[in-house]
Amino acid sequence: METFGHFEDASREYVITRPDTPWPWINYMGTEDFFSLISNTAGGYCFCRDAKFRRILRYRYNGVPMDAGGRYYYIKDGDSVWNPGWKPCKTTLDSYECRHGMGYSRIKGCKDGLEADALFFVPIGHRCEVHRIRLTNTGSAPKRIQLYSFAEWCLWNASTDMENFQRNLSTGEVEVEGKVIYHKTEYRERRNHYAFFGVNRPFDGFDTDRETFIGMYNGFEAPQQVLSGKSGNSLAHGWSPIASHRFDIGLEPGASEEFIFVLGYVENPSDKKFVAPGVINKEAALRMMDAFAAPEQVDAAFAALKAFWDGLLGRFTLQSDVPELDRTVNIWNQYQCMITFFFSRSASYFESGIGRGMGFRDSNQDLAGIVHLIPERARQRILDIAATQFPDGGCYHQYQPLTKRGNNDIGGGFNDDPLWLIFGTVAYIRETGDFGILDERVPFDNKPGTEVSLLDHLKISFKHVTDNLGPHGLPLIGRADWNDCLNLNCFSDNPDESFQTTENKSEGSKAESLMIAGLFVAEGRDFAELLERIGDSGAALVREAVANMETAVKKHGWDGEWFLRAYDYYGNKIGSRECEEGKIFIESQGWCTMARIGADEGLCDKALDSACKLLECEHGLVLNTPAYTSYIKDYGEISSYPGGYKENAGIFCHNNPWVIIGEAMAGRADDAWRHYCKITPAFCKDQNLRKVEPYAFCQMVAGKDAAKPGEGKNSWLTGTAAWTWKAVSEALLGIKPQFDGLLIEPCIPARYGNYKIHRRFRDAEYDITIRFSGKAGSVFIPYKPGKQELEINL
Ligand code: BGC
Ligand code: NOJ
Repeated sequence: METFGHFEDASREYVITRPDTPWPWINYMGTEDFFSLISNTAGGYCFCRDAKFRRILRYRYNGVPMDAGGRYYYIKDGDSVWNPGWKPCKTTLDSYECRHGMGYSRIKGCKDGLEADALFFVPIGHRCEVHRIRLTNTGSAPKRIQLYSFAEWCLWNASTDMENFQRNLSTGEVEVEGKVIYHKTEYRERRNHYAFFGVNRPFDGFDTDRETFIGMYNGFEAPQQVLSGKSGNSLAHGWSPIASHRFDIGLEPGASEEFIFVLGYVENPSDKKFVAPGVINKEAALRMMDAFAAPEQVDAAFAALKAFWDGLLGRFTLQSDVPELDRTVNIWNQYQCMITFFFSRSASYFESGIGRGMGFRDSNQDLAGIVHLIPERARQRILDIAATQFPDGGCYHQYQPLTKRGNNDIGGGFNDDPLWLIFGTVAYIRETGDFGILDERVPFDNKPGTEVSLLDHLKISFKHVTDNLGPHGLPLIGRADWNDCLNLNCFSDNPDESFQTTENKSEGSKAESLMIAGLFVAEGRDFAELLERIGDSGAALVREAVANMETAVKKHGWDGEWFLRAYDYYGNKIGSRECEEGKIFIESQGWCTMARIGADEGLCDKALDSACKLLECEHGLVLNTPAYTSYIKDYGEISSYPGGYKENAGIFCHNNPWVIIGEAMAGRADDAWRHYCKITPAFCKDQNLRKVEPYAFCQMVAGKDAAKPGEGKNSWLTGTAAWTWKAVSEALLGIKPQFDGLLIEPCIPARYGNYKIHRRFRDAEYDITIRFSGKAGSVFIPYKPGKQELEINL
């Protein structure tokens, strides 16, 4: 089968060996507030803190060809012009390799005896990308070549950059001084920030005006200056500012030259913006340039980045007999959890970085993937999220990272949202034992003076559900629950309305959700346990509400062979054998089996059997079946998708782990393992079919009803990362953090049951050897600081 690359576990890299991957295969760089997306051909962009409001590089969505724009290096060697990453010139290379590693990418191209090795990373403690370009003459004759850099500036607001040309084409401003090109558009007025692209050696020419560099009728693949071996030394005034440096280089056989480029971002105090009228204060930029002036400095910064990731990924390691499992657990799944924590759903090759900030529900779930890695940052995130809640427990559906203020741009009133705060906080406290976070004072809607304790936020989250019950005693769905597209109060027949923001009917709605019911029971139990643990008398009422909900689910939410999905506006069933289409849905099977509702009466086993029988296909479990074949106004966006895609019978990978965990809780190891392998990219053999990165989970794989079942989409930024982490680390491998220790309770097929785990847990370090025979059982390890070696036979 055709492959485009392979894993290299020792160096924690994925090595791409052909540039023409079925879709750009990307990586992320940055660990603090400067972030970059970089594809295997060096496409992509960067921003500081906010992908919409502080965008540094311009990027073209929906471009033809895909992935136009990035940090490009051009080499002119005689008549041939090429890029180390193949694009944009697409000149055939003698060899190509891209190594995506933890927070860096290294792209190497060779042609006609010249090797160009480009290392890209975002150093810790600096707001910049460092590009180390090393050119080596591997041939036998001396070479005279030229190297050009290229980056195109976005005019900061990534959204208006694409729209407001009557203004934008007149605002661009730059300065060129010493070895640095400065981008200072709008700095003259309210912006206190600028960007720069500099290099550690004097250059032989430059350009800052796109038209001069590229030529009006050329594309990135044929910049007129590069083709002619010159530079225009242009200064951009309006139009489209860029930055390009040129070097004329002589290389003897065997000789190498190294160039260190820094693409950075600077914020100045408002009283120190200028050194002379119109001349920007360059001090901070020059300091950053100085920090990377010499190769040893770059080596040290790169080593520090490696150490950062080694430290993180050393906290939980697995040694099993299954290499695909090891590389997923030890490297890529945890890495992806960090990326989703940083980015929520804002910036990927499927999310524009413009439309969506940090989701309330999404960010809470993402915590489950990183609490064991960066607990301090999880703590802050919880407090930030809680501060966007309303006094009645409802929530803004998302907030903008720059301001941390909530907005309803993609809708509000999702009735599952409040419960996720309990989910995230419980995950955090179980990992850290930091009960003190519950006493933190947190405002509502970020309004000073409204502060209550985080614990009170959790209580009103819980109460928001019991305050909003429908006719069957089940939770009202609101605009939607986890499934954004089950819009039971929307009733839209206007194509110009968004399903996510339209709510034409909700008064008197009977629409109830079994997904929220399951979530409420599961999280309610956790919440009660937390309250009991801290001696809060509210626990009893919580337990009572949970018991009532279980009764309601058993009475009104069971369809005979599986759990119903919902009741619609009129009180009709959704996800029932009585329905023609959408007879069964995954979300309620997952949540009600994780909540073990009716387990004693056999409901969970039946629901899981039905999931295997009806929802499972070759590539995973579809969301619902049969797919909706036409638009149903009463159901909304779910029926807007052709069958097999997204929420209409796609394999929505995010919710597969719910069933995996449900299976594990029912002791059904083979089913749990099979479902896990199907959605985990490291097990996927057909790279051409899957199309997206073989090292990242995707939100959605086309389901059995799609034109091409198995084709992946929406890779990287998805709750799948945190949920598969929870599924594999807790449900399958059985390492379950509790308030006072670790519960070891594996559920994995016995043939894979011998493995070793190294686990940092608070101030303890456990080396656990597990021999699991397949029989259900568990061992509790009370928390005790220090090193411990444990052998567990189950
Ligand atoms: C997508 C959902 C997404 C929602 C909000 C819908 O179009 O199908 O997956 O959560 O938009 O952006
Ligand atoms: C993606 C959204 O980010 C998430 O919040 C939602 O739960 C799923 N889509 C399902 O609709």
